[in-house]
Amino acid sequence: MILKKLKRATALVGVLVLTTGIFAGCSGGTTNKPSDANKGGKDDEIVIGFSMDTLKEERWQKDRDTLMARAKELGVKILIQAANGDDNKQIAQAENLISQGVDVLMVAPHNAEVAATIVEAAHEEGIPVLSYDRLIKNSDVDVYVSFDNEKVGELQAEYVTKLVPKGNYVYIGGAPTDNNAHLFRKGAMNVLKPLIEKGDIKLVYDQMSKDWQPSEAQKHMENALTANKNKIDAVICANDGTAGGAISALSEQQLAGKVPVTGQDAELAACQRIVEGMQTMTVYKPIPKLAETALDVAIKLAKKEKVETNGTVNNGKIDVPSVLLEPIVVDKNNMMDTIIKDGYHPYEEVYKNIPEDQRPKQK
Ligand code: BGC
Repeated sequence: MILKKLKRATALVGVLVLTTGIFAGCSGGTTNKPSDANKGGKDDEIVIGFSMDTLKEERWQKDRDTLMARAKELGVKILIQAANGDDNKQIAQAENLISQGVDVLMVAPHNAEVAATIVEAAHEEGIPVLSYDRLIKNSDVDVYVSFDNEKVGELQAEYVTKLVPKGNYVYIGGAPTDNNAHLFRKGAMNVLKPLIEKGDIKLVYDQMSKDWQPSEAQKHMENALTANKNKIDAVICANDGTAGGAISALSEQQLAGKVPVTGQDAELAACQRIVEGMQTMTVYKPIPKLAETALDVAIKLAKKEKVETNGTVNNGKIDVPSVLLEPIVVDKNNMMDTIIKDGYHPYEEVYKNIPEDQRPKQK
């Protein structure tokens, strides 16, 4: 504990300097001067570290922005670092947050297995770890806050199999290093498998995409089209980024808008494609809800209070107490009642390429 306070006292100097760099420091309430760390009162300020894999996809920027805003509202300090998909960098950044004596460490891991070392390092300093959105595997991670990720895959496959009950299917998954990518695929396969066994659906192509790269997904789609002489009836893409890649490949063959494509994240570009008819659906995961829930849980962990969970997820080592939120299907028909109603994206932006007289009326 003393070590932790000493470390925090020195590290706070670093935070103040680094807030303009890779650190996203955010303090609610009173200012946090280095000297405060040695005084009573300020010692009680909760400091939460957040080690992120990436800020590449739009959703992660929403995660970051919501967390910073909410932390400010609640008067807790949050330090955020993103590793640009580099495992060593993520470990070094997490170690740095640990050495600053954060009260709780939240981690959205790039690599589900590698991140177990972060949990060990944090636990050695008595710091609890919250697995954020993505599960850290084979570790004693304290709690997992995410969406029901298997359900995300089920929703994608259910939607598209209703639309196209028979035919040649392509599955374009996410990063093999991300546990979520496996859960999304598992969910999709729960729905597809009986139809494949019945002979209604033929899974003609099934690949994951390194680091969720849209360019990888585009190559997958090109390969799938070539190998099947363009006879593809439906494409399940694990997220909107990969959907964007697949749709580029489909448009090279004048097939965009003709072959259903799924996605996930309700990114602005995907919502625009949906209302334009280029993408069929997305799975909307209200990120502010995730960020706020995670922050509430982190604060409870910091205060050593009981955390309410609604399930467990096995990570290969333990059943991790989990809070899993509900994902929501979004298509052209309910765009107004979901994304627009929630203010997730502005109406003007989502419908910007649709002539005004063809847009749904705003309520
Ligand atoms: C997240 C998705 C995201 C993907 C790529 C997954 O772990 O759950 O929302 O699109 O990572 O960053």
